[in-house]
Amino acid sequence: MTAAGPIAFDLAHVSVSYGGVEVVNDVTMTVPERGVFAILGPSGSGKSTLLRTLNRMNDLVAGVRIGGTVSFRGQDLYAPEVEATAIRQQIGMVFQKPNVFPSSIFDNVAYGPRLHHHRSEALDDLVRASLQRAALWEEVRGDLAKDARTLSGGQQQRLVLARCLALGPQAILMDEPTSALDPHATGHIEELITALAEDCTIVLVTHNVNQARRVAQTSAVLSTRRTEAGGLVGELVEVGETAQVLTAPADARTARFLSEYLD
Ligand SMILES: Nc1ncnc2c1ncn2[C@@H]1O[C@H](COP(=O)(O)OP(=O)(O)OP(=O)(O)O)[C@@H](O)[C@H]1O
Ligand SMILES: [Mg+2]
Repeated sequence: MTAAGPIAFDLAHVSVSYGGVEVVNDVTMTVPERGVFAILGPSGSGKSTLLRTLNRMNDLVAGVRIGGTVSFRGQDLYAPEVEATAIRQQIGMVFQKPNVFPSSIFDNVAYGPRLHHHRSEALDDLVRASLQRAALWEEVRGDLAKDARTLSGGQQQRLVLARCLALGPQAILMDEPTSALDPHATGHIEELITALAEDCTIVLVTHNVNQARRVAQTSAVLSTRRTEAGGLVGELVEVGETAQVLTAPADARTARFLSEYLD
C-alpha cells in the first residue's frame, strides 16, 4: 500500500534473522506521518522484531542481521553515518512492561535531557511539560521526589511515555503498551495515544484487535509461514486502512486471524 500523505517510515524488502534463522521475511510497507499505525498478528509472527527495526533497537541483539532498507522521513536508518543512539532519541520506544528506572519520578523524566546536556535551569519546565503531555502531572505534582517504582502500573507506563516525550521524539514505537494494564488504565493510555498521534507518528504493536480498531487509522497484519526447512517465518499479509483491514480483510489469513481472536 502506498500512503496518500507524507510518509514517516518506508520499509523495502525488510528481512530479519537471528543467528542465521530468518524470522521476518521481505516486508515492504509505508507508515504514514502522524496518526497511529497498528501491527497485529499471532504470537511469534515477528511483530516485536519488525517494530525494533524502526529505531535500530535490534542492533542490541547479538547475531541479528537485517536485510532490505528502512528509512524514516527519507533518511536510511541503517546508513553507515547514522548513529543508532541519535535515532533512538528521535524515535522513542515504550515496552509492555514499563521500564522505570530505580530513581525518582523527576529523575526518570530528566534522564534523557540530562544525557543530552539540557540546560538545568530549564529542566523543571521540561519535566513538568512532559508529565503534562503524558497526562500524569496532576497525580504526581505534589511529590516528584517519590521513587518511581511505587507508582501503579498505568502510572508507570505514563511515566515512561513522559520520559520519551522529554526528548521531543518524532515517532514513538509501542510494543503492547497496555497488555499488563486493567481496562481503566488501558483506556487512559489509549486516550493518550490518540492525543499524541495528532503531532507524532505512533507505531503500536497490539494483541488487541479492538484496541487497533479504536485508535489506529492504519493496520498491518503479519502471519507465520512454514518454510521448506521446517521453521516458521513471519511475513506481511495485509496493510491498509484499519476500517477495511480489520472489518473486511482482503486476505483469508487476516480473516482467519480475526475469527480466532477473542477479546
Ligand atoms: N533475541 C532473539 N534471539 C533469537 N530469536 C528471537 C529473538 N527475539 C525473537 N526471536 C524469535 O523471532 C521470532 C519472532 O519473535 P517476535 O518476538 O518478534 O514475535 P511477536 O510477533 O512479537 O510475538 P509475541 O506476540 O509473542 O510478542 C520468534 O520465533 C522468536 O522466537
Ligand atoms: Mg512481541
